[in-house]
Amino acid sequence: MKPSRFLLGGVFTILAVVGLSLSVEAFQTPAQGLLYPEGYRSWTHVKSMLIHSKDHPLYDPFGGLHHVYVNDKGLKALKNGGAYPDGSILVFDLYDAKEEGGAYVATDRKFIGLMVKDAKKYAETGGWGWEVFKGNSKTGGNVADAKKDCFTCHASQKATDYVFSKYQP
Ligand code: HEC
Repeated sequence: MKPSRFLLGGVFTILAVVGLSLSVEAFQTPAQGLLYPEGYRSWTHVKSMLIHSKDHPLYDPFGGLHHVYVNDKGLKALKNGGAYPDGSILVFDLYDAKEEGGAYVATDRKFIGLMVKDAKKYAETGGWGWEVFKGNSKTGGNVADAKKDCFTCHASQKATDYVFSKYQP
């Protein structure tokens, strides 16, 4: 009798540990765990924009020259509209810029902004996961509150699945 009681106790301990780790995962913020988008510079370039003046409402924190990229999975929705399929990724690649002899020249990278589509996992933030990689770092974890810091602004673009950029043929 004794051994089986031990066995039962062991099973309950395992169940408790599994249950605990599952509930910890459920409380993680949606933006956590997004990986650096390796190779994005070879994806489709969507558009570029230079925000050069404090008169622009997004000068802080988006001042500088940015390029937007989309991976193959997201390209069709960007071109034709409709919901982006899971696995779609958009990159916002921002560089500081300085005026030099009548030209604006891109200097150091400020950060990369990332949107990764997973409709179920990131249901609370429009079906997109949000992340920032500062400078040339490939380490994320820089978005404290994806809903407040990213999604509330992108929410205005509901008609295009929360993506601002339009495809430029
Ligand atoms: C105050 C509004 C605002 C906030 C906050 C904001 N964005 Fe954006 N985001 C924009 C705008 C506007 C564009 C389009 C820029 C363009 O047209 O070139 C954009 C573009 C992007 C893109 C390219 C895809 C697209 O929608 O065009 C990504 C990726 C992105 N943002 C990620 C983020 C992340 C990550 C955060 C949070 C850390 C964030 N954004 C917070 C306004 C915002």
